[in-house]
Amino acid sequence: MGGLSKKAYQIKNIHGLQQLPFLAVDGGNLLFKQKQLSPALLQQAKITAEGITDIYSLMQYDAVAVGMNDLAAGLTFLKEQAGRADFQWLSANLVRKSDTEPIFSASITRKVGDITVGIIGLTAYDGKIHFPENEDAAILPYDMVLPGLVADLAAQCDMIILLSNNSTNQNKEISASYPDIHIIIQSSSNSRNSAPQLHNKSLIMQTVNKGKSLGWMLVNWQKSKVWGRIGSIKELANKKQELDGINGRIKRMERREPNDGLPDNPSYQNLLASRDRLLSEIIFLENKQLELKETGMAPSTYENHFVALEIHLPDHFEVQKIVEATKQKVNEAGRSQGSGKSSPARSEISLDKLVFTGWQACAQCHTAQTEFWKKTDHAAAYQTLIEQEQQFNLDCLPCHVTAEYKGIKISDDDAVLLSLPAVLQQVGCEVCHGPGRKHAASQDPADISRKPAASTCLRCHTPERDEEFNYGNDVEKIACPASKR
Ligand code: HEC
Ligand code: HEC
Ligand code: HEC
Ligand code: HEC
Repeated sequence: MGGLSKKAYQIKNIHGLQQLPFLAVDGGNLLFKQKQLSPALLQQAKITAEGITDIYSLMQYDAVAVGMNDLAAGLTFLKEQAGRADFQWLSANLVRKSDTEPIFSASITRKVGDITVGIIGLTAYDGKIHFPENEDAAILPYDMVLPGLVADLAAQCDMIILLSNNSTNQNKEISASYPDIHIIIQSSSNSRNSAPQLHNKSLIMQTVNKGKSLGWMLVNWQKSKVWGRIGSIKELANKKQELDGINGRIKRMERREPNDGLPDNPSYQNLLASRDRLLSEIIFLENKQLELKETGMAPSTYENHFVALEIHLPDHFEVQKIVEATKQKVNEAGRSQGSGKSSPARSEISLDKLVFTGWQACAQCHTAQTEFWKKTDHAAAYQTLIEQEQQFNLDCLPCHVTAEYKGIKISDDDAVLLSLPAVLQQVGCEVCHGPGRKHAASQDPADISRKPAASTCLRCHTPERDEEFNYGNDVEKIACPASKR
């Protein structure tokens, strides 16, 4: 959620610059990163979700679609969040089993300037049942809910936006069946920014997930209710630019050769001919656009922008405060979770039951490497979390301790990370060389991995956490020295 204070700042900034009426919407999958949460993650993830709800309210969002991920902590939890939120959760196809009425709202309408916009939400339908037997809830295929809803909204609105948790292919099918939907904003698991693309009559678009980017669009909506071929508008702009160039060259020639030589100069004559041709083409295109405008049939246009929410961007002060307070609450929850009865307290996790054995087991034989490693930031990675008061945050821990190597995990229970023995509270030897208990006993080089591959580093040095990571350079900085023997 760290990017949210950047996002809030950017939204305020864009709004301030444009001074235009606006809508703020989200395609869903807002609250949680995955469809299912392990019991250990649940409590902390819920606290984060509450913080996100407060922040979207503060950012004055209008509507958010219910994505599958938003149901990860259960329907009751999402209903509670909807009750606290100042924005509207939307899903036309998440309904009560008993009477097929939407559990949240199917749609809302908003006046944006003098345009009435209808907004619909859709939750992904995958044919599976996602609710306990006794819960009065079901997800319907979109075809069962859209026909009436779209027809109703089309009669009252100038524009219809669909916030869709469906896949791109499903959204393309929707665009083919429902020409009255003008914009489809996706929240599929596809992890890229995709700029608006015209399918049938709808623009389909998405911003990258995990909040790494803000997408915004400046729309010039016309009575025609159709998206213009950007082509003809670009063509006009190109021709005008070409004309400017030719006028410049004509002027220069006239300056250089002010006498009677010009009428006989073939390149001068060519330029004049091109100028006349361009002028008549421009007039033709402009007349066509004017005519379209007068008959109300001018195409609508848009400008699309993606803003990467990078670390150096300014923060929104109040949102930053909510982010900080939420992280503190998460840490406190983790602290009591770690010392609770249900999971073993720190001293109770016995090292010899774990796949990892800790750096101290290596130190006696590899003194030089251990001394070197202690000076790297890896040895202080957990200390860094303590300084941030985030050492109980399960969102941070996997990258700041020794608990994983190439798919070998210390435990299926994430709560174990809250009470690791002290010798695993670093990015230790075994993060790079693999579990070493067997090797420490055998001293056989075949029982340990010598050089960590780039993929080992990239589990933690992700583009989000370390934009500048470069294996070739960075491995040199942390490579342990050769043994002197
Ligand atoms: C009891 C002594 C001992 C302990 C404990 C020990 N090692 Fe070793 N280690 C050795 C010996 C001996 C070699 C082989 C040195 C050689 O061939 O030059 C070795 C080699 C290695 C190598 C190089 C492997 C290769 O393919 O060249 C790595 C990496 C390594 N150890 C890491 C560790 C780690 C990590 C630990 C702790 C989990 C550890 N060792 C614990 C004795 C030990
Ligand atoms: C378990 C997660 C994890 C893995 C795997 C990992 N790192 Fe790191 N790395 C970190 C963290 C966390 C920090 C920052 C620690 C701090 O400052 O508290 C860091 C810091 C660094 C730094 C800067 C600090 C310094 O001492 O110069 C370099 C360089 C680096 N890592 C390189 C690598 C390379 C190369 C690999 C793979 C061989 C790798 N890391 C594997 C988590 C990891
Ligand atoms: C996906 C792995 C990953 C996760 C999750 C992660 N970190 Fe890190 N963290 C890193 C890496 C890698 C670095 C080193 C980045 C670099 O060298 O630029 C780092 C560096 C840091 C630093 C900077 C240390 C310094 O001063 O140079 C802080 C502070 C930090 N992390 C705190 C956190 C907190 C708090 C969380 C949870 C909210 C967290 N990290 C979650 C991988 C991660
Ligand atoms: C961030 C990754 C990382 C961590 C953490 C790390 N190492 Fe290494 N280690 C390396 C790399 C990279 C090399 C160089 C391998 C090569 O170039 O062949 C290396 C080499 C070694 C070697 C072989 C040295 C030789 O004789 O050439 C040993 C032994 C070793 N490490 C032990 C340790 C021990 C013990 C620890 C913990 C105290 C540790 N390493 C922590 C990345 C790491």
